[in-house]
This record gives sequence, C-alpha cells and structure tokens, in this order.
Amino acid sequence: MSDFQLTRTLDEHAADRALRADVLHGLTHSPKVLPPKWFYDARGSELFEEITRLPEYYPTRAEREILLARAQEIAVVSGARTLVELGSGSSEKTRHLIEAMPALDTYIPVDVSESALSGAAQTLLEEHPGLRVHALLADFTKPLHLPQSPGPRLVVFLGGTVGNLLPPERAVFLASVRAMLSPGDALLMGTDLVKDEDVLVAAYDDAQGVTAEFNKNVLSVIDRELGADFHTEDFVHVAVWNREQEWIEMRLRARSELVVKVRELDLLVPFAAGEEILTEVSAKFRQEGVRRELSAAGLELTHWWTDAAGRFALSLSVADGAEPAADSGRESEAETAA
Ligand code: SAH
Ligand code: TRP
Repeated sequence: MSDFQLTRTLDEHAADRALRADVLHGLTHSPKVLPPKWFYDARGSELFEEITRLPEYYPTRAEREILLARAQEIAVVSGARTLVELGSGSSEKTRHLIEAMPALDTYIPVDVSESALSGAAQTLLEEHPGLRVHALLADFTKPLHLPQSPGPRLVVFLGGTVGNLLPPERAVFLASVRAMLSPGDALLMGTDLVKDEDVLVAAYDDAQGVTAEFNKNVLSVIDRELGADFHTEDFVHVAVWNREQEWIEMRLRARSELVVKVRELDLLVPFAAGEEILTEVSAKFRQEGVRRELSAAGLELTHWWTDAAGRFALSLSVADGAEPAADSGRESEAETAA
C-alpha cells in the first residue's frame, strides 16, 4: 500500500513565464543577477546531493548531527501529526525526524524540483508504509495552499536555505510562515552560522569542482529552456565572503568579453571580460539575528540547538504568544517564558 499524492501548483506555463521574467530582468540588470531556484532541474538536484557529500561542505553533516541528537525532543515538544517541509530536496535528513515521530500522519514536502520530490517520496513510502505523503510542487516564496491534514503541524526548513533569500525576502517569507501556523504549531529552521572565512569559502568552492558545476548548471537550464547559447566553459565559478553582509556570494565570471544570445527572449546579453552574474547568496547567521528576524515576523524562538563544533544551528519557534504543543525541556531557564 502506498499513500502518495503530488499536487502541481506550478504549471509548466507559469514556470516558463517566471523563468523568462527572471532572466530578462536579471541579465539586463546591472550588476547581473539570477534567482537561485533555477539551479534545481533534475541535474541541479543531483549535483546538490553530491555537494552535500563533499568533505568541504559541512552544513549537511552538522545539521544531521543536531537532528540525530534532538529528533526525539523535537518530536515530543512539537507533538506534530503533520510535517510540512519547505525546499525538501531529497528529504535525506528529514528521515531522522520522521523516524522519531511514530504518531506522524502526513508528510508534506514542498519543492520546485519534481525529480527530487518523487525520488524522496518513493524512498520514504518504502520505509514508512503507513505514512501519507502529499508532495507539493510549489515555490515557497509564493502563497502556499496546504492540503488538509491533522494538527499540530511542524513546518521544517532545513539546509540553511533560508539564507539563500535576501533580507527583505526573508522578512516576507518568515511572515508567510507565521501565517501558516495555528496555536500549537511550530517552525524548525536550520541556519548556518558565521565562522572562519576559509571554512566558509571552501564549502562553496570545493576542490573537485562540484559546486562550480552546480553553479554553472543555471546556464544550462537557460540554454535548454530559452534557447540561449551560454557555454559553461566561458564562465568561472567564484565564491566570495561578504564580510559586511555576512553572506557568501556565488557568482559566475565571464572569462572574456562575449555576447550571449537568448533566442526565446530576442535578447543579446553583452558581457565585459571579468563581468559577473550574482547567482546566489548564502547568508550566515548569529543567534541574536535569527531571534530578531523571527520576532519581527511574529515568531518567538523557543529552542536553539547547535552541533558540537558550533557550526550550524536549528531553531524552534512558535507564533508569538503561543506555546508548542507539548512544552518541555527548553534550552534554559531564562527562556522558559511565563
Ligand atoms: N532541504 C534539503 C535541500 C536543500 S537545497 C537539504 O537540507 O539538504 C534547497 C532545496 O530547495 C532544493 O531542493 C530546491 O529545489 C528547493 N528550492 C529552492 N528554491 C525554492 C523555491 N523558491 N520554492 C520551493 N523550493 C525551492
Ligand atoms: N542552501 C544551500 C546553501 O546555501 C545551497 C547551496 C549550497 C548552493 N552550495 C551551493 C547554492 C553552491 C549555490 C552554489 O548552503
């Protein structure tokens, strides 16, 4: 028996229109930019999974360490019967949570990558035949219509993906998550933490060049979908730590002066030698900043857990003034409110 449903809220037309708009805007903008969600076609999702296994890419291992140590506690505190996961990808780490939640009724993975969603669901249903899996092919930066399912709900957002949103986008996003939460519901969010620049840069510029290939994949997506003639060899992958903003910037730098044609947009895009496209930021956080941003969105941080080396954090938060379903074992006395 398997209980799987996939709802596509992104029809192909809408996705195509959004890609056209983003490429037209981003490549005529100065400096040039592209939004990160276009990395994740089937090949991009595969490459990201490869990134998670690289020796330099510590976030996945650090977050897994926290999940393994805290899954039981998270299950008890949240009392969740529905798990909603934004940007779920392969749901690899989520597995540890699901295993700790025998009362879980429904898992709702939300992602823009259909290949990632169906792959993840298949594995999960084999392991948990009683679980209902209702996948949503959707953009989590847009309003989400979640299927009916029993509460309380735990919304999880792992991988530090929240750091791929710019601060104003993050504010809008967190407020929309807040609006999804009823009393008793909670948000579990993974954030990568500020640390040594060398460690950070290496995580986004690995020796094997997998991250470079992942970054350049966005050019292949535009070539395929919009008939452009980007050649990935013409670009160099660059990862830079922006000390003021405390984020890593992923860029693609033109090796020489060139003009790229985007046939479907009737667009010629000139590049100067050395000119860059900003393809993604990955913000790194501190506890106070996370607390502040959550609070500005009407969310109250109730738990903060890090890996032993203090590289990555998981935070649990609830709607302002609400309590998690079963409140126990808070981080410290000081945070045991009222
Ligand atoms: N949660 C996984 C994957 C992180 S990679 C982990 O921690 O390893 C980011 C994931 O978010 C990818 O699967 C990507 O397809 C998805 N994603 C990126 N932007 C998105 C958006 N705007 N809406 C929905 N999913 C998105
Ligand atoms: N959410 C991931 C992160 O910020 C995404 C990511 C990892 C990524 N490596 C990348 C995005 C390289 C672009 C390029 O860590």
